[in-house]
Amino acid sequence: MTSRKILVTSALPYANGEIHLGHLLEYIQTDIWMRFQKMMGNKCHYVCADDAHGTPIMLKADELGITPEALIEGVSERHQADFKDFSIGFSQYHSTHSQENKDISANIYHKLNDAGFIKKRTISQAFDPEKQMFLSDRFIKGDCPKCGANDQYGDNCEVCGATYSPTELKNAKSAISGATTITKDSEHYFFDLPQFEVQLKAWTKAGHLQDEVSNKLSEWFEQGLQQWDISRDAPYFGFHIPGVKDKYFYVWLDAPIGYMASFKKLCDEQGLDFDEYFNKDSSTEIYHFIGKDIVYFHALFWPAMLMGANYRTPSAIFAHGFLTVNGQKMSKSRGTFIQARTYLNHLNPECLRYYYAYKLSSKIDDIDLNLTDFKQRVNSDLVGKVVNIASRSAGFIVKKFNKTLSAYAIEPELYHEFVVCGDVIKKHYEARNYNQAIREIMKLADKANQYIDEHKPWQLVKEDAKQAQVHDVTSLAINLFRVLMTYLKPVLPVMAKQAEAFLNIDTLNWQDLKHPLTKHQINAFKPLMSRIEDDKIEQIIEASKQNMQVAVQDKHKDDTLIQINDFTKIDLRVAKIIKAQNVEGDDKLLQLTLDIGEQETRNVFAGIKAHYTNEELEGRLTIMVANLAPRKMRFGVSQGIVLAAGDGELLHILSVDSNAKPGMKIS
Ligand code: 2FM
Ligand code: ZN
Repeated sequence: MTSRKILVTSALPYANGEIHLGHLLEYIQTDIWMRFQKMMGNKCHYVCADDAHGTPIMLKADELGITPEALIEGVSERHQADFKDFSIGFSQYHSTHSQENKDISANIYHKLNDAGFIKKRTISQAFDPEKQMFLSDRFIKGDCPKCGANDQYGDNCEVCGATYSPTELKNAKSAISGATTITKDSEHYFFDLPQFEVQLKAWTKAGHLQDEVSNKLSEWFEQGLQQWDISRDAPYFGFHIPGVKDKYFYVWLDAPIGYMASFKKLCDEQGLDFDEYFNKDSSTEIYHFIGKDIVYFHALFWPAMLMGANYRTPSAIFAHGFLTVNGQKMSKSRGTFIQARTYLNHLNPECLRYYYAYKLSSKIDDIDLNLTDFKQRVNSDLVGKVVNIASRSAGFIVKKFNKTLSAYAIEPELYHEFVVCGDVIKKHYEARNYNQAIREIMKLADKANQYIDEHKPWQLVKEDAKQAQVHDVTSLAINLFRVLMTYLKPVLPVMAKQAEAFLNIDTLNWQDLKHPLTKHQINAFKPLMSRIEDDKIEQIIEASKQNMQVAVQDKHKDDTLIQINDFTKIDLRVAKIIKAQNVEGDDKLLQLTLDIGEQETRNVFAGIKAHYTNEELEGRLTIMVANLAPRKMRFGVSQGIVLAAGDGELLHILSVDSNAKPGMKIS
């Protein structure tokens, strides 16, 4: 059989946050499939990248006072370290903020534009006048137009569940600066998706999608396809739209192109032929593993873009469900929002790989990581069954038989049964029904343990006449262990490596299983996996709760810090108090008339009556905030604020040297 040429991808993680166990479900799912394909002798490249563009990344960099480039660089390093430690074997891990991606994005855009698939239209959007930027729904907050609840996002109300457009929101404010939003027009670029309706309908029904996904798409087709807005106005962190001033590609345009860009880099590095994979008539296979929340992008926009730009479309999109932990959405306060690094600090990554494999199927149902079940499952299956086969047999071979397996393969039916079962296990892996593959493997593990239990080598060894039998029984057990570890190798690459060292073989591989190891010398057995103890899981939960607290503190820190430009916005000036008067009907306030230079006077109400007589104040120099928005008070309008120091009881208005002049700027 000729070997297949396959390219697989996982969704590109955003470059503004850490990898968590929810992300890992997908990377582990893809990685297992890639490793399985390689074991089958196929060529399989696995590419991914950080999804580096977009407003949230720009704002996060802003908040941290660093450039977006510096932010994405640091995040990428951490992402890659996490992936490496979970044995995610990318062939290439790139970034969407790369030259390759810029070039391919521009190229695709030009092709789409030349073919008439890009349309321009002016739209009205919410605009933050302070930040001078357009706001997407998630950056607008206000009062719900239905129930009046405060502080709701621009598109839906979390209190009454109403959905609406951001322009309907009452008292709409920018979630970034707090400024009242205005509505502003801007010209946008649209990808004309409706032109692809016929082709897309055919494509989505041609076996490239899981049934549940293709049903969902039928609903979307019924609702009608809409043009897709692919442009964003400055300021934005992304690629400029070629030839257009101050407009950028929307992050979701260049994100899937990032798959191609990452593969392009791999091709350049390894001398592979990019066109062989992406040409319209390519016979290679391309699969995108994604979460079910981003199906719209991958099963509609992406194939349409590829069609429009004259590239081949994906062989299939493999969507999976969401991860829940202990039956619920991951929660920061419950400590179940677990980052990859937190897990790695306490537990063996292969345990999680195994548990996910045990749960994963080709369906899009959500997957639950029940932490109690996780512990029991790993302890009972991997430690109690698989490793146990080797650990209870190796000692005999090493101590009694000079580390050498016996010459004759006994019980050929049992060994044969193990090998034959490989075919069904292969089918399950290929179809991404890892849960079924694991079930078959564990049935075999039970059989191997039963075999050892029935023959009781620990008893036989006491009888001189039975030594050869002990040798055969334990040798067969080691051979059965070899078969199981071969089947588990896509899931447990590290443990498989250790098993290879123990078995003293180059690589565990499917074809070699036809022949059991006989008269073969093995190495001393070292424990391959230890049990998960309860306290480890508790420690992970505790550490995850603390991560959250640190995040909250950091946020708080960020909220209380101001940047230099915040400070320079305040117009502080020397003011001379030219008159201080009582306010009728108020025993706290004084009405001050201030000279702030250039013949301008200000009227300010100050709560200082208990601390000064009017005479003490008149003629004094002090400091005021001159650009505070005027406030309407009961007795008139206050046009600024006079600075004073106080502790709740005592109060002293600030003074300046007597030779300062009213109107001088303070900086
Ligand atoms: O949803 C997400 O996390 C996106 N960053 C996924 C992008 S996948 C691809 F299209 F690039
Ligand atoms: Zn509401």
